[in-house]
Amino acid sequence: MGLLYICFSVIVLTLYHGVVVNSGITSSFVRQEAKSVDMPFTSDVFIHPPGYNAPQQVHITQGDHVGRAVIVSWVTQDEPGSSTVVYWADKSHQKQNATGRITTYKYYNYTSGFIHHSIIKNLEFDTKYHYEVGTGHTTRRFWFMTPPAVGPDVPYTFGLMGDLGQTYDSNLTLTHYEMNPVKGQAVLFVGDLSYADHYTFHDNSRWDSWGRFAERSTAYQPWIWTAGNHELDYEPSIGETKPFKPFLHRYRTPFRSSGSTEPLWYSIKRASAYVIVLSSYSAYGMYTPQYQWLLEEFPKVNRSETPWLIVLMHSPWYNSNSYHFMEGETMRVMFEPWFVQYKVDLVFAGHVHAYERSERISNIAYNIVNGECTPVVDQSAPVYITIGDGGNIEGLANNMTEPQPKYSAYREASFGHATLEIKNRTHAYYNWHRNSDGYAVRADSVMFFNRYWHPKDDSTSKT
Ligand SMILES: [Fe+2]
Repeated sequence: MGLLYICFSVIVLTLYHGVVVNSGITSSFVRQEAKSVDMPFTSDVFIHPPGYNAPQQVHITQGDHVGRAVIVSWVTQDEPGSSTVVYWADKSHQKQNATGRITTYKYYNYTSGFIHHSIIKNLEFDTKYHYEVGTGHTTRRFWFMTPPAVGPDVPYTFGLMGDLGQTYDSNLTLTHYEMNPVKGQAVLFVGDLSYADHYTFHDNSRWDSWGRFAERSTAYQPWIWTAGNHELDYEPSIGETKPFKPFLHRYRTPFRSSGSTEPLWYSIKRASAYVIVLSSYSAYGMYTPQYQWLLEEFPKVNRSETPWLIVLMHSPWYNSNSYHFMEGETMRVMFEPWFVQYKVDLVFAGHVHAYERSERISNIAYNIVNGECTPVVDQSAPVYITIGDGGNIEGLANNMTEPQPKYSAYREASFGHATLEIKNRTHAYYNWHRNSDGYAVRADSVMFFNRYWHPKDDSTSKT
C-alpha cells in the first residue's frame, strides 16, 4: 500500500511538474516538412563575378578591438593578382591603399584559389567607406559603415545567424535577414558556415560557393566569426589532420588585439557591446590557452564603457533538444561560474538546428556531494539562446526532450534568424524571426534588461 502511494505521488508530482509548473513555450507552429537540399553550383546565388580573375567571395570582419579597422578578404581564381584594397570615405576623393597578403592551401585533391587578406586601419568611427578590390578592367566596388565610437549608451543592432549552410533554406534565412525592417549593422555568426564536409573528401569547392553565396551580405557588413564543428575538417582517412585548415585560411579574426594567441577565441568591442567569442572545439580545460585567456579577459570588461556583455560559442550549454543533448556540458562546467560572476547578459550558440531561448538560470551550486545539480533561476546569469536554425543540409532538429525543462522559455524547430537592438545601457530589444513568416513578423520577442545597469527580472515564463 505504502509503495503504491509513493508511486502515485511520484506520478502526480511528475505531471504537476511537467504540465503546471513548467510554463515555457514549446511552439505549436508546424513547419512544412521538406528536406533541406544544397543549391546546385549552377544556382544564381553562386554566380562567379564576370571578368578575368575577378575578386570573389568578398567578406569583411572587424580588424581591431574597437572597430576602427576592417579586415577585407577575397579570392582570385586565375592568378594571384593584387592584394591591395583601395578605399575612401564617402564624399571624399582622397583614395588610400591597404596592402595585404595572399595565402593558398591544399585539401586532399583540392587546391584553393588565391586568398587575399588586407587590413584597413585608422578609420573614422561612424563613417561610410567605399572600397575596391581587383586590378585592371576587373575591379569590384563595395562599401561598409564603421561602427560608432565605443560608449555606454550607443545604440547598435546586431543580426544573429548560425549553422547557415547553402541550401534553399539557407538562402531564405539570409534573404529574411536582409529584408527584415530591423536593419542589422553587423552579424554575430555562431559557427558552421559552408557544410563542405558533408561531401566526399570535404569538397572544398563548397567553401568557395558558400563564400560567393554569402558575399551579398559579408562584403557590406562585418560578420563576427565563431568556429563550429563543421569548420574542423579533420579527416585522417585522407591525410587531413590539421583541424580548421580551410576555415583558418579563408576567414580571419582580430584575435591579437584582445591578447589571444589563436584566431578561434577573441573579443571585440562594438558600440556599447563587448563580444567574447569562444571555441567549443579547442581545449578549454584548466591551464589551456583558451582557459587562461578567458580568465584574464573577464576582468578587463568595463561595463561603464561597454554595458552589454555577450558571449558567442558553437555548442550550447542549455539545450533541451534531443540533438546534441549535453554536448556543451564540459565547457559549461569549466566556465559557467565566471559567466555568473561577471554578469554576462546574453550567450548565443548554434549547433542545434532549431531555436531555443532560456530564462536566466545557473547551475553552479553542485559540488559532487551536495546533490544541487538542477538549474535555478539566477538574475546574475545570462539568457542562453540557440540560434543554429540557419537552414543547412542536415535539416531541422525537431525532436525535443519532454517535458520542456523549466529553464526553457521558448523552443521551436523552425529555420530563421534573430536581431538584437541595443537601445542604451539598460535595454535591448531582441526578436527571433522564422522564415515561414513575412519579413517583419516577430515570432519571439523579449526586452532584455542589462545585468549590470538594470538587473531587473526580464523573464517571460509565468511561474
Ligand atoms: Fe554544429
